[in-house]
Amino acid sequence: MRVNRRVLDQIDSPISTAYALVSPPEGDPALLDLAQAAPRYPPAPVVVDHVTRIARGRHGGTYTEVPGLPHLREAFAAELSRDYQGSVAPDNVVVTAGCNQAFSLVAAALAGTGDELIVPLPYYFNHDMWLRMTGIRPVYLRPGPDLVPRAADAEPLITPRTRAIVLVTPGNPSGVTIDPAGIAAFAELARRHDIALIVDETYRSFRGTDEPAHHLFADPHWDRTLVSLHSFAKDLAIPGYRVGAVVASPEVNRQVCKLLDCVAVCAPRIGQEAAWAGLVHARGWRRARARDIARQRAWFTAAMAGRPGGFELLSCGGFFGWIRHPFTDRPTDDVARDLVTRYHTLLIPGTAFLPEDQGMLRVSVSNLDRAAVGTFVDRLTEAGRVLGSQDSRALGRSG
Ligand SMILES: Cc1ncc(COP(=O)(O)O)c(C=O)c1O
Repeated sequence: MRVNRRVLDQIDSPISTAYALVSPPEGDPALLDLAQAAPRYPPAPVVVDHVTRIARGRHGGTYTEVPGLPHLREAFAAELSRDYQGSVAPDNVVVTAGCNQAFSLVAAALAGTGDELIVPLPYYFNHDMWLRMTGIRPVYLRPGPDLVPRAADAEPLITPRTRAIVLVTPGNPSGVTIDPAGIAAFAELARRHDIALIVDETYRSFRGTDEPAHHLFADPHWDRTLVSLHSFAKDLAIPGYRVGAVVASPEVNRQVCKLLDCVAVCAPRIGQEAAWAGLVHARGWRRARARDIARQRAWFTAAMAGRPGGFELLSCGGFFGWIRHPFTDRPTDDVARDLVTRYHTLLIPGTAFLPEDQGMLRVSVSNLDRAAVGTFVDRLTEAGRVLGSQDSRALGRSG
């Protein structure tokens, strides 16, 4: 059997590749797993109670409407209108089986083979993978030295084939948050060129502020340009329930629903009910978890200030730290392998998020408590000492 060349040529899931280095992952009691950005705590009890009740009910296992449960679409539109001080209506919301599906469906709705999407570096790997596998060309936007992408740098990249600009804020893997003025500049650029601005807002609750992430929803014509993507996975600690959302114009949503109908019919009912219960009944719980993650980021940032082992933290935000390793002569994939096999520390190599090796590693801070931060720093220090001296010996030999 022959398979699609575009799919064949793509990388495997970077998360699966990382976990394959520790098989079975639970077999190493010393493992510090800083790979996947998934909450380690269970969902709010009120959410669990609600889905248990729903699962026992007569309709617990049935399909929902293709765009999602009306009460969830309503609750989410109300939350966005409140949080962003803007105007989002229920028919702007399509519920999807997670934010990855939201992105995939939106990209497919907006662009076809040979079309282009502008994607800032470093990218979220699933965005890049999806575009490439579906014949859409990602055009890379290099950020400034502060790792913030800028609209002015995107303008020269726009061609007649450009269909959208993609932002992820706070970023994965960089954690960098683009401020409202920066997002507004991208929206204005997209509007002028009649292309879409897709903003993946998976980590919006983890910015360390309750201020609106942007003011675009306050513009009565926002849906001519903006497509905002959401995940309930991190916010409500329900990654396995598979629920996210597209927030866009009813016209774009109609196209998204054609695709959603074919790939999933609808997002899982249980996941949708969990998201509804979380939005309506677990606001305090969500804020407390976001505060926990902010505390973890603060411990991590403070500990990395001393550059343990020569590892340098370039940015931190949302769920992530983005660090540069000190081994300039060693491929980052080898460094990541050494860190897990010799130092029991699982990170994702930056090569999963970049078209070239820039010596970067991604750390998920969602998995770090205070003791783990100390262990992490000790291990980086030791890795820097041992691997660094091996590097210099190798250089001495070759020189
Ligand atoms: C930027 C970004 N978008 C989307 C997703 C996927 O979210 P979901 O689990 O809702 O599909 C993730 C998960 O890591 C992410 O980091």
